[in-house]
Amino acid sequence: MLRDGVPALVHVLVRPERPGDRGDVEAARAVELAAFPTDAEAQLLDALRAAGACDPARSLLAEVEGAIVGHCLVTATTLERPDGSRVPGRVLAIGPIGVVPALQGRRIGTRLMDAALALCEREGAAAVVLVGNPTYYARFGFAPARAQGLLPPGHWRDEVWLARRLPASRPDDVGVVHYARPFLEME
Ligand SMILES: CC(C)(COP(=O)(O)OP(=O)(O)OC[C@H]1O[C@@H](n2cnc3c(N)ncnc32)[C@H](O)[C@@H]1OP(=O)(O)O)[C@@H](O)C(=O)NCCC(=O)NCCS
Repeated sequence: MLRDGVPALVHVLVRPERPGDRGDVEAARAVELAAFPTDAEAQLLDALRAAGACDPARSLLAEVEGAIVGHCLVTATTLERPDGSRVPGRVLAIGPIGVVPALQGRRIGTRLMDAALALCEREGAAAVVLVGNPTYYARFGFAPARAQGLLPPGHWRDEVWLARRLPASRPDDVGVVHYARPFLEME
């Protein structure tokens, strides 16, 4: 069911940020600021950009009638396999993801998630991870990550530490998933 029975928006364009476009950068920040109760996610975005960990091609914007109303970031992680080898980019992370409150519950988040997952698959990643509500993310194929051999980089609760394997996944794609540093500094 859609929230309050409102119809899904049909004219939603999901696109990556234009490299170097200040308007896109500010719009992505404004969406995260509006979507979450604190400015933690907006600050995380700033820190990721400052650290060079925010690739515009992996920063997806949802546009409705020319206004940016949703944002979803995909970042690279480094997979540390049990033999100690470290593989950058083998596992990608989704988050933060936000939709402006006035338009939540109208499938914009779903469009962003679908686009983010398609991007991860196109890039040949073995798996996608995220921290979030297991009930909400189950619909996108996410399940507890630890049971799939993917361990969190910090003391993240197993219930919210989720992963979805992609077609490129191999049996040796297991180990600790190290996020870009600003994520850990957010804890
Ligand atoms: C989570 C979020 C990105 C989802 O985007 P969205 O556009 O609202 O989600 P969708 O319309 O695609 O909805 C998907 C489902 O979630 C439900 N849902 C989403 N937001 C809801 C809300 N505010 N109230 C009630 N239900 C909601 C929808 O009813 C729908 O359920 P259904 O498939 O069973 O019908 C968005 O709600 C948001 O920005 N929330 C605040 C920030 C946040 O919590 N981010 C995620 C952190 S893990």
